[in-house]
Amino acid sequence: MFKTVEWTRNGVVMIDQRVLPGVEVYRTYKDYKGVAGAIKDMVVRGAPAIGVAAAMGAALGGLKIRSNDPAIFKKEFLNVCKVLAATRPTAVNLFWAIKRMKDVAARNDTCGVAALKMLLVAEALAIHAQDIAICKRMGRHGGKLFKNGYTVLTHCNAGALATAGYGTALGVIRAAIESGKKIKVFADETRPFLQGARLTAWELQKDGIDTTLITDNMAGYMMKKGLINAVVVGADRIAANGDVANKIGTYTVAILAREHRIPFYVAAPLSTIDLKIKHGDRIPIEERSSKEVTHIQGKMVAPKGIKVKNPAFDVTPNALVSAIITEKGVVRKPYVKGLKGLFD
Ligand code: MRU
Repeated sequence: MFKTVEWTRNGVVMIDQRVLPGVEVYRTYKDYKGVAGAIKDMVVRGAPAIGVAAAMGAALGGLKIRSNDPAIFKKEFLNVCKVLAATRPTAVNLFWAIKRMKDVAARNDTCGVAALKMLLVAEALAIHAQDIAICKRMGRHGGKLFKNGYTVLTHCNAGALATAGYGTALGVIRAAIESGKKIKVFADETRPFLQGARLTAWELQKDGIDTTLITDNMAGYMMKKGLINAVVVGADRIAANGDVANKIGTYTVAILAREHRIPFYVAAPLSTIDLKIKHGDRIPIEERSSKEVTHIQGKMVAPKGIKVKNPAFDVTPNALVSAIITEKGVVRKPYVKGLKGLFD
């Protein structure tokens, strides 16, 4: 089984998701700047995985600080966190994980720099281990929503590659299958970065899960034909009212699901829920390079000089979301109350 992000004696090791499924290459990052670059360039991607990588990057950054003076350590550590936080703006798990690391530093500012370094490493390892456990719990709750024989559509990659392991949306699918149900998957290819074609198809095929790849514009046709029983996607940030930011194209799938009376589920850990943001329109949406749209696998597929837009995420209004699956259970409307209740 592959490892998405791993803490090793040599540094932080990540499977390079940019080159999957063609080659399975692992890259080792020995300093926090390398980890920040890997997040920005999408060597590692997916909200929970980004959080885990950032935590490990912060631990690595902490370890490399030379000074034993607590005040200098604090200043330099906060700078490490700042660099890691400036990598990608939408997935709130990144900021959630960095805050956990900063909180450890703040709580233990009198224990000495050497001890604090060890605590930071321990916190990053805990975030990693907890993420896998959380995905499994989410899977147990969400798996019950699928009946035996269901075909489930998913968008982007919310699997083991997008988390420390097991996955959010794909974790729900995995759990349903592990409970003995026959579940088939339709995977949207997910232009422009092709997380569905390259990553979801790859990891589900590796697991022997019955998976059919479609291009994004085929989802409506499949639904009309009665070939899809439910949709399950992950999330990058969920506002207090249940609006969901996820990979561009998710909103379109949600509208299609509503039109065809198919349940639209979102699976996400509590670390993806941002109660400070009231509505989805306040969620910062990352705009990525135009090259992701004009080129496929390095080959230009559009005329030179054409104007391009490339928002990496969209926001699905809460009205279109049938339920949000978390590690603490399944939340339904009204989301303001249900989501807040998860933190009480
Ligand atoms: O740009 P990406 O590949 O980081 O976007 C990933 C997604 O949108 C996922 O669906 C989301 O992070 C949930 S992952 C469990």
